[in-house]
Amino acid sequence: MSNQIQSQNSVQGRHNVIIDCDPGHDDVFAIGLAASFCNILGITSVVGNSIIENTTTNALIAADVFGLQNVPVLMGAKTPLSGNVDHVTQAHGASGLDGPARRTPRTKLDSRDAVDFLVETCRSNEGIWIIAIGPLTNVALAIRADRTIVNKIAGISLMGGSITHGNVTAAAEYNIWFDPQAASEVFDSGARIKMCGLDLTDQLTVTGKFASELKAISTDASQFCAELIDYYQGYAAKIAGVTGPDALLVGAPLHDPCAVLALTHPELFTSERMGVKVETTGTHTLGMTLADTRPWENHSDSVIEVMRTIEANEARQIIVNSFKNAK
Ligand code: BDR
Ligand code: CA
Repeated sequence: MSNQIQSQNSVQGRHNVIIDCDPGHDDVFAIGLAASFCNILGITSVVGNSIIENTTTNALIAADVFGLQNVPVLMGAKTPLSGNVDHVTQAHGASGLDGPARRTPRTKLDSRDAVDFLVETCRSNEGIWIIAIGPLTNVALAIRADRTIVNKIAGISLMGGSITHGNVTAAAEYNIWFDPQAASEVFDSGARIKMCGLDLTDQLTVTGKFASELKAISTDASQFCAELIDYYQGYAAKIAGVTGPDALLVGAPLHDPCAVLALTHPELFTSERMGVKVETTGTHTLGMTLADTRPWENHSDSVIEVMRTIEANEARQIIVNSFKNAK
């Protein structure tokens, strides 16, 4: 039985969102997109791409870059609930955001605890989307603190997992592998989930051309983000072993913006409802998202919507235009 969903071509209002993130180059692009298309109620940081001090500073820098100084930025979990503390210094550098000259953020850190903020904000505003683009530690802790928020939020749009290959291991994607216990609790919570896994986000690649398009816009945000891409795409070329002029043609996957676009531009996606479980143990499969793809199982009433395909050309254009329109 087919659980295919063709997302509707509808004009959406601005969603109220909290962005839970571990910036991270691609996280910054997700924050920028959300600044253009969503009403951001807060940005919560989590350990992942770098130590919590760095991901928090990077979230503050992103708030500066996109004119979000009035949006609360709060520090979240320092360590995963279970798991694998291994920062992605290869792809994101020691700061988590290598490339552009390091900035001192002007946006001030909100001193409240990120998990308390998530709980309070989800309680007092019905229908929020949590956009979760790092390990799911903060989100799991918020659900542990108050399970009723699962029914108060509209859902969780997340970048994590995969129904095919992993990136840290053959089976596991980084955000889930970093904290499998948290991910398992979130996937089992009953909350509505839009899952942008690696098999989806690997379709949204950017090359040197994308960086050139950003440079041509000539705003501080576009220059900063172009320099992020120079670094991030350069790393993709390096691991692909491509040098010289051809290096600029290598595609680097821009994972995290997919979790924003899944909300704001659903017409770009096809999706399928599936049962998905997270492996919290396993010799070879720790952190794997195991999707039940048995064709005879009907998951049409599953709360987990797995995003399968994205119109990548249109998505890239929307990202570039968001910088132009923010001028
Ligand atoms: C995910 O891991 C991080 O490195 C990226 O920011 C993204 O959220 C991709 O596996
Ligand atoms: Ca991320």
